[in-house]
Parts: sequence; C-alpha cells; structure tokens
Amino acid sequence: MSILEKIETLKQQASEHIIDQQEKVEEFRLKFLSKKGELNELFEEFKKVSGEEKKELGKQLNILRQQIESLYNDAKEKFSSTEKKFSANADETLPVNAYKIGSLHPISIVKNDIISIFEKIGFNVENGPEIEDDWHNFTALNFAENHPARDMQDTFFVEKKPKGNFALRTHTSSVQVRLMEYTKPPIRALMPGRVYRNEDVSARSNCFFHQIEGLYIDENVSFADLKQTLYYFVSQFFGEREIRFRPSYFPFTEPSAEMDIYLGTATEQDKRLTKGTGWLEILGCGMVDPNVLENCGIDSSKYTGYAFGMGIDRITMLRYGIKDIRQMFENDVRFLEQF
Ligand code: DAH
Repeated sequence: MSILEKIETLKQQASEHIIDQQEKVEEFRLKFLSKKGELNELFEEFKKVSGEEKKELGKQLNILRQQIESLYNDAKEKFSSTEKKFSANADETLPVNAYKIGSLHPISIVKNDIISIFEKIGFNVENGPEIEDDWHNFTALNFAENHPARDMQDTFFVEKKPKGNFALRTHTSSVQVRLMEYTKPPIRALMPGRVYRNEDVSARSNCFFHQIEGLYIDENVSFADLKQTLYYFVSQFFGEREIRFRPSYFPFTEPSAEMDIYLGTATEQDKRLTKGTGWLEILGCGMVDPNVLENCGIDSSKYTGYAFGMGIDRITMLRYGIKDIRQMFENDVRFLEQF
C-alpha cells in the first residue's frame, strides 16, 4: 500500500472510530496520536520518501494530523464538560439552594381577608396616623373630659401640650374622625391599623395590637343595616355561625352593642376562650352618636351611620390556634414561616 493510500485509510479509521464514553478518548489518543500511534508510524515512513513526492505527501500528512487532532480535541471537550457537571465535589441530587422569600405575617393574612370581604360590599380602605392628638383620639369621639380611658394607665402619651396631648392612638376610631372631617357622606370605609395601650404584657394581652374599624355614613342608615353587614361578614369569615348582640356602651355610639359568635364548649380551648359560656366577643359596634357627626362637621339631622371595631390579633389567634399573643411579635422566622 502506498503512503497516500495509507493516509486515506487512516483518515477513514479515525473518523469512524466511535468515542462514546470518557475512556475511549484516551484509547483514541493512544491508537492515533501517541508516539507509537499510527500517525507517527506514517511520519516515520514519510522520512524515507525521496524529494519529488515529499512535498505533496507532507501536505496530505499534515492535513490528516490536523483532522485527527481535531477529532481528539472535540471528544476531549465533550467528555470533560460532562465530567465537570458531575464532578465529585457537587452532589447533583441535593435540592437547589432556593431563595427564601419570606411569608405574610398571620396578622396581615387575617387583615387582608377581612378587607377583601368588606371590599365586596363597597368599603374602601383608609389609614390614619399612629401618633394622634387628643381631639381625634378622644374629644371628637365624645369622650368626656375626665373619662377614664384618657387615664395615664391606658394611654401612652408622647407629648403634653397646653392645647392638647399627643399620644399613641388607643384605637382606630380616631381614623373615623379624620375621615369624616375631610370627606362628606356617603362614606363607607374600613380602617385597619396598630393601636397602643399601656397594659401589662401577658399571653393574652399586649401593649400594642391591631384593630380594624368600619364606618358607614349616609342618609337613612339604620341599626338593621349594621346587623345585616355583620351577619354577612361573619358568614364569610367564620362560616355559618350563631351570633348575638349584647347592649353595651361606647361614648361615640348610641345605641352601642358588642357582638359575640358562638364557638360552643366542645373542646378545652373553646371552653377556655369563652370562659365556659360558648360565646366569644368579636367586636364593638353601634350607631354613630350625633355629637360625633356634628364634631366632624356632618349634619346629624340629615345623616346617620354605623361604626364597628374589632381586634385582629384575637381573631388571628383563634383562627390559627396561637396560644400566646407575644409569639406573633418576636419575629422568630420559624414561627412566622408556618403561615
Ligand atoms: N374603639 C373601640 C375599642 O377600642 C371599639 C369600637 C367599639 C369601635 C364600637 C367602634 C364602635 O367603631 O362602634 O374598644
């Protein structure tokens, strides 16, 4: 066989050589490219060729070498990249290191649920400041000058001023006043937010908590409208439950009531929550006192309205079976991640 024929045969062999796994790459190198490999053998033979032929054969041999080298390099590349992917220091079966994106606080979840129930019947969400003056937190809401709720024991005062004190708001009812001062009826709003009271911290009470206030002012609003709205809310939030209204007193509503829902006494927790009665107080409500409407510049001979206020924390604890209110504010992610 002439050298030229040998070149052709080797070219064919190399291109048909199957490299389908890592070990075959080395096998290929040994067979074709090593010192004792077939390509080198041809080069040895080529040394003996005389002048005339040498030029053309040399060219062909160099082309062959390039072809074999590039086959080898391609195979090496292919298997080294798979090797890298499955390299020993990475366990491909481990779950990916996902970003932690956090979760909504249970109070926010409950707040959002309550809002979306009331939004369906036309309530807007409104907000007010947490540092409040005496007028919005007490006076406009018909609290008498010496009302015990103004007492230092309940209220965190921020600043004492001759014209009035500034305090951390003790309830979200203050936002009602602001709203009535700057908008005119009809008003239908929900006012969620944090409130503060100087109380001993325990498993069941905290020095700050969350309320959601409701207000509806228009012509001919009646107590029947209030009851119907609250029936609707309870059925949406708690499911079909028995509820009852008990007469109560708030300076800013007349008549006033508290609403209870029936949990029963079947479980120990229900017994404890309801102090054995089966009934749990959920909110305070009533018809907005005409004095309050007048204090806010609304004509009480033309407009009436109802208001209600409920604590979000208690409802959250009830829904999720949280036994200690303080857990919700320790910012322990292991607790918060459960919701
Ligand atoms: N502000 C009351 C409280 O903090 C709750 C409340 C009762 C709000 C009756 C109202 C209402 O709007 O009508 O205890």
